[in-house]
Amino acid sequence: LEKLVVLMSRLPDDSELGRRLQNTVIDILFNDLPHPPSTYLTLPKPLKHASSKQTNYAFRSADGSNNNVLFPSFGQAGQPYARSVSSMNTVLPSFFPDPDIVFDALLCRRPPSPQQASSSYFQSHPGGLSSLFFAFANFIIHSIFHTNLDNPRINDASSYLDLSVLYGSSEEDVSRIRRFDGSGRLWEDVWADKRVVGMHPAFGALVVLFCRNHNYIAERILAINENGTYYSPSSPPIISATSAHNDTNRSRLLSQCDEIFHRARLVNTAYFMQIVLRDYVGGILGLVRDGLEWRLNPLGWSSQESSQTPRGEGSSVSMEFNLMYRWHAAISEEEEKWLEGVMREVSGKGPTSTLRFYSFAYCFDATISSPALAIAKSLDRLPSGAFSSAELSDILHRATASPASSFGARKVPKAMKPIEIAGIRWARSVGGCTLNEFRRFMRLKPYKSFKEWNPDPEIHKAAEDLYKDIENLELYVGLYAEECKPPIPGAGLCPGYTLSRAILADAVCLTRGDRFLTVDCTPHNLTSWGFQDIQPNIEDGSMGGMLTKLLFRTLPGEYVAGSGYAHFPFLVPSFVKESCFGKDTKVGEDKLGGRGQPKLNIWRNLNISAPGTCEVDVRKRGWVNQEMYKWEALDVGIKNGVGFKNGGVELHMCKDFFLQYEARMRLLTKGGMNGLDSYHNVVSCHLHMELSSFTHLLISEKSIQCNRHNAGLPADVNDMFVDVVKDVINLVPVYWVVNNMLMLPLKASASLRGMYTLQDWYGMFSDVSKYLYFNNGQVNDWTYREKGTRATSEIIRHLKASLAEICKSTVSLSLIYREIGSVLAWLGGSKERGEFLKEVLSAIPADRQRDAYDIQIEHAAYSLFSELIPTAVLFASAMATVVDYYLDDRSRDACQELQRLAAAKSPEANVQILPYVYKALGKSLSCESPLITR
Ligand code: HEM
Repeated sequence: LEKLVVLMSRLPDDSELGRRLQNTVIDILFNDLPHPPSTYLTLPKPLKHASSKQTNYAFRSADGSNNNVLFPSFGQAGQPYARSVSSMNTVLPSFFPDPDIVFDALLCRRPPSPQQASSSYFQSHPGGLSSLFFAFANFIIHSIFHTNLDNPRINDASSYLDLSVLYGSSEEDVSRIRRFDGSGRLWEDVWADKRVVGMHPAFGALVVLFCRNHNYIAERILAINENGTYYSPSSPPIISATSAHNDTNRSRLLSQCDEIFHRARLVNTAYFMQIVLRDYVGGILGLVRDGLEWRLNPLGWSSQESSQTPRGEGSSVSMEFNLMYRWHAAISEEEEKWLEGVMREVSGKGPTSTLRFYSFAYCFDATISSPALAIAKSLDRLPSGAFSSAELSDILHRATASPASSFGARKVPKAMKPIEIAGIRWARSVGGCTLNEFRRFMRLKPYKSFKEWNPDPEIHKAAEDLYKDIENLELYVGLYAEECKPPIPGAGLCPGYTLSRAILADAVCLTRGDRFLTVDCTPHNLTSWGFQDIQPNIEDGSMGGMLTKLLFRTLPGEYVAGSGYAHFPFLVPSFVKESCFGKDTKVGEDKLGGRGQPKLNIWRNLNISAPGTCEVDVRKRGWVNQEMYKWEALDVGIKNGVGFKNGGVELHMCKDFFLQYEARMRLLTKGGMNGLDSYHNVVSCHLHMELSSFTHLLISEKSIQCNRHNAGLPADVNDMFVDVVKDVINLVPVYWVVNNMLMLPLKASASLRGMYTLQDWYGMFSDVSKYLYFNNGQVNDWTYREKGTRATSEIIRHLKASLAEICKSTVSLSLIYREIGSVLAWLGGSKERGEFLKEVLSAIPADRQRDAYDIQIEHAAYSLFSELIPTAVLFASAMATVVDYYLDDRSRDACQELQRLAAAKSPEANVQILPYVYKALGKSLSCESPLITR
């Protein structure tokens, strides 16, 4: 299987073979487990009530019922565990060895050999997985397993990745954490599952992030109001003032609240699923460690072919998979210490040998008023009810920094003994199967001997003494004391061989079987915004890792931009430093070729210094310095990404840029003029020439005729439609810069090779300005910086060629290349082309030394870039804002006056137009979204 994974991950994105292979692998993994399950640990209960709410969107029920509408109790909370393997083993229960002895002999953490007895009992995970990875794994298993204390055959959680740890598994649970104020939000930093308080704080911190994410999503859904049906909960419309109608007002508010809550939950759970598939399964397969952005996609969004493997038909977790997920061996050193302390405290309250997890967790619960009000015992709440983000971030940083333990025999911390014993007893009490029976079920070769199962003589001899025959080796012990897989390509988790094969089948079935993660994961249900929010962005510096976005979003300012702790939180930073740096080239040179990452240079641009010690901490600087930081970063990015060979050139795109404004002005104005007015004079003479005719041309080219008969409106042959923002306004300033000012190559049609269309240039200009002006916070920093850097180097490359072309100092191949297919003749060619650049060049003193002259050209190129490129798109946004303002019915009179002034085409009329522009801009700056962008 690993070999297939490696092959798939290295094939190109559009490879037909890759697509087919992926479908085949998903089919195999999905069909590993029966759907629906063959049998249950006890009789399934009939569904008490089916949710009958009439809505025009699909939503999750609190207890997971109705996920499969034809078999509504399938996977519902409160149903029995499924049984995957019916054991035929005839050995009597009394034959099995005492679990106490089994734990000491085969499971308890200890030095690998007596010679190493003095060294630490702890061995770091060989694949570099961090303790946070396993905190997330713990989060996953708590969402799907919750063995009932009174009846251990019953699972009190649903079998879906529905974030039941956060939302609970019943209407009562959900009600405890919701505000019911019309906003669909939850209370601050709450959760419904009591078990969280008994777990290590990193687990609780992750749950809190999802609570915050829910509230963020709900706020966005309400603010965007896609269907226009929501109103502000703080000022609801009064439907009726009479007391008799108060109920109607209230029920309308609650129905809005329900809708936003349910949609937000769908987005939040789909987000969770994406973290599972991208960050977590990426870690399990070692794809992150190997620098590969490809991920196994079991949801079949894009594949019609795998329709023979059903989607969204429900799932029901089995007791075998409950056993298979007890990864207590991976507990880190820090967690082990924490656990020992907790156990000491708990053991003071009774014998630990019979301690069960839930009673253990409830010890904490007894000390608090509501399960939603504590995270471990150590974290206080702020007056707002929320935890301190700094403290949460500290917990998460520490969990990323501490390595998990390796899997394998004798790796479970001693403090977990009572819990492990309870697990072994549970498996026996429900008639669990043996390891070999499980392997046959998974179509794996059964082991013939203990030695084959684990070649380590100490382990296989001890196991043989206890179980006598390999066919008697029970599943629990067989899984966790088995020989482990090494960290080879395609394998990152490195557990025992049987577990590593089965775990993938489970991941595929859990996600593919869930209706709300597959067929009902649609923009209609999640809202358009929500659907886009859950899409991974593989250029984000995390290879599409979704946890990164969650950390930046929910803990603003706590992770510095580019931090390795945020980009790869499931890998220990020291492991990344030692094992991953320099990987890009290796992957790129791999014989299988394909998806290496040289373009992203992920590892190289990563900041893995300890949290808080990043050299550039923008939080501590003022606005101007933030801007400088961005320019600096762009500059560094250019140097790294493109590699300027003539080192030593001090580029303008660094902090000096801001200090050299006056000097540049003198350069551009031949030393004669000062300030903005002079700049305006230099460029404005070029401005009016073509823009008007170009705007007309765009309007007529991009307009389409409308047939208004269908809309019941009177027909008029002159009715035309144009997307005035996207197809006209956005392009005008870009055209002016590209064609009139900088002489950049332009082609008319996308089908011509080698050149850029106006839309392409717009895209590049927009990438630059997004990084500099719309990069608020760290969420998009990496993507914007990468794109901005790429666009900058491309624009600068062409700009230098333009300058060189004008001064004829360089005849390079690129120039000849540029002439071919170039549409200098678009619009019949422009007389002004090149004049502005000639003026700029004439300001540069001719230098006999060629190198010095080239450096001047380079300075001029950066200078021009800085003056013209980043603001061109802002200018378009400002124009769109003005047009939008005057197209509004309320501005009809002013619009007519404007048309009159524009038609006059006189300098006096232009002066009169300007106040109208200021008025529209002033209005928009005072509202929430100042500029229109598209
Ligand atoms: C510090 C870390 C952890 C602690 C203190 C801990 C503690 C416990 C306890 C007390 C139980 C209850 C046992 C019982 O009811 O018989 C339990 C069950 C379980 N644990 Fe852990 N655990 C930890 C980490 C993990 C991790 C990393 C995983 C796997 C990803 C995991 C998977 C499970 C599973 C699947 C169960 C069974 C749950 C059920 O049947 O309801 N645990 N754990």
